[in-house]
Amino acid sequence: KKDAIILGIESSCDETSAAIVKNGRQVLSNVIYSQIDIHQPYGGVVPEIASRNHVKKIGIIVAQAFKDANISYDDVDAVAVTYGPGLVGSLLVGLSFAKAFSFAAGKPLIGVNHIEGHISANYIDNPDLEPPYLTLVVSGGHTHLIRVDDYDSYEVLGQTRDDAAGEAFDKIARTLKLGYPGGPAIDKAALLGDPHAVEFPRAYLEENSFDFSFSGLKSAVLNHLNGLKMKGKEFRVEDIAASFQMAVVDVLVDKTVAAAVATGLKEICLSGGVSCNSLLRKKMRQRCQSEGLVLHYPKATYCTDNGAMIAGAGYFKYEAGVFAPEDLTADPNLRL
Ligand code: KG4
Ligand code: ZN
Repeated sequence: KKDAIILGIESSCDETSAAIVKNGRQVLSNVIYSQIDIHQPYGGVVPEIASRNHVKKIGIIVAQAFKDANISYDDVDAVAVTYGPGLVGSLLVGLSFAKAFSFAAGKPLIGVNHIEGHISANYIDNPDLEPPYLTLVVSGGHTHLIRVDDYDSYEVLGQTRDDAAGEAFDKIARTLKLGYPGGPAIDKAALLGDPHAVEFPRAYLEENSFDFSFSGLKSAVLNHLNGLKMKGKEFRVEDIAASFQMAVVDVLVDKTVAAAVATGLKEICLSGGVSCNSLLRKKMRQRCQSEGLVLHYPKATYCTDNGAMIAGAGYFKYEAGVFAPEDLTADPNLRL
């Protein structure tokens, strides 16, 4: 089969990224510009500021991706771009750029769902991974348990009914004054804390449900902290971080393993920013080992938002002949 080289562009939130990927698995370049420092003073992503910074950087980032891969515009077979879900202004910057590139270079345009991008991150540097498998996408915006039947065929088995896992990490970190983004900060603080200091509630919902809910846990942590404050009691931030993290990870691991058992799938993939979490990786590894399941997760760079995963997902659409219409528009609420 002929090689296919895809340019991937991602700008759905606060990372401007472009990558060149060969055959969906081999990364020739992956350039990421993160706006974290810009949004840090606000304690979260400010949409208007995010869009403006994407505009400033997109051209430079794409040019750098070609430079790093040492190829010319003509060498790519198609351009893949995230068109949702995400912040509409941010999405529009990447999408407009991709459309212009597609038109000017005469290369087909491929629209990629951001969640599909996260899923595809597991194919990178992993030549043996093939559907079917079970995947847990845990990021700042999503918590999805998905059965991947084929490269372009998915069934959502469960998802969050309120906050995404990463969103819960970010909110609790803000309350604990650990800064933004909260996930890595809680991960780090938790290493020095006692995960059994407080037994926070785990929401398993109805029996056999693969849905998630993290808003109750979030309230429980806030109530606990308010209670301590009212009584004038001291507490260790590390203990709260560790206990909160353990509550999130317990539910993520239990539900994922239960879904694997229920579907009979033997391989599990993790993806999305929260899949960087050290406790999640460790607990999932242990459980998969004892249950006879095979676990995959991407390198940290491919867990958080990046262009390579979008190029990867784009490759499988390219192979299937699925191209975007010329009038493709950004869809902030795009579903899988
Ligand atoms: O996938 P991503 O870059 O963007 C979205 O699509 O949302 O995920 C970002 C999320 C943030 O909520 C961040 O706090 C979380 O991933 N995150 C982590 C860790 N690293 C990033 N959460 C827990 N532990 C981590 N080590
Ligand atoms: Zn993401």
